[in-house]
Amino acid sequence: MNIVTSLQEWRKIRKNLDKMIGFIPTMGHLHEGHLSLCERAKRETDITVVSIFVNPAQFNETQDFERYPRDLEADRRLLEQAKVDFLLAPSAHEIYPDQYQIQIMETELSQVLEGKFRPGHFNGMLTVVLKLLNLVQADLAYFGEKDYQQLLLIEKMVKAFFLDVQIVACQTVRDQHGLALSSRNARLNAEQKIKAASLHTVLKTTSDLKQAIDALNQIGFKVDYVEEKWQRRLAAVWLDEVRLIDNILLDKKEV
Ligand code: PAF
Repeated sequence: MNIVTSLQEWRKIRKNLDKMIGFIPTMGHLHEGHLSLCERAKRETDITVVSIFVNPAQFNETQDFERYPRDLEADRRLLEQAKVDFLLAPSAHEIYPDQYQIQIMETELSQVLEGKFRPGHFNGMLTVVLKLLNLVQADLAYFGEKDYQQLLLIEKMVKAFFLDVQIVACQTVRDQHGLALSSRNARLNAEQKIKAASLHTVLKTTSDLKQAIDALNQIGFKVDYVEEKWQRRLAAVWLDEVRLIDNILLDKKEV
C-alpha cells in the first residue's frame, strides 16, 4: 500500500492512474464497517483509495475533536491486510490552505435532526467531502448508511455540483449485540457497549416514537431525538459521555 501525505504528490500520482477508482473517505480508527466498504470497493473497482482525515471543521465541540480516537499505525495495518492500494492521509494545513474560509452550505436537509443538535457539523462535513472527492476523482465513493443524513446530503451535493462520481450506500455493520459499528464506540467499555446495543433493539421493537423515547429514557440514555423520516426511524442518544446515532429502515406502510 502506498501512503501519501502530500497532496502535491497525490495529484501527480492521480494523473497517472487510468483505471477505475473506488474511494472510501474516513476519519480513521477503522473498524469492520470501514473494512466492509474496502472489500466492496475492491470487488467493484480496480484501485482502492482510503483517506484518513479527522476533519476539525465538522466537530461542533473542540473536546469531541480532541477526544476523537486516533491510531494511524493500527489503521495502516488493517488497510495493508485489506489490500487497499492507496492511503491518503493529508494534514489539516493542506486540506484547508484558506483556513476554512470557503465552505459548502446546504440550507434544508442539513437543518433537521443532526443539524439541529450539531450546528455547523454538516457544513464542515460537506466541505471536506467535496475537497476529497475533487482530489481523488473516483468513479465510485462508498459511504455507510449509519450516518444516513450525511449520506443523503452527500448525494444531494454530488447532484447539485454535477460531480462525476457515483455514491454507493452500504448497509450498517453491527456487532453481535446489534450495536452499529462506529469509531466513537472505542470510548465505550464492555458493559456500556452492551447497553448501547439496546438502542438498535428499541428502534426495531417499539411501535411508535413515544414508546421508543420512553424505552430509551428508561434504559438510561439521554435522548436527543427519535424521528421518522426518509422511510427510516433515526435516533441520536447519549450514553454517559458518548453520543450514539443509529437508524433502521421502516416498513413502507409504517411511515
Ligand atoms: O463519516 C465520516 O467518517 C466523515 O463524516 C467523513 C465522510 C469521512 C467526512 O469527514
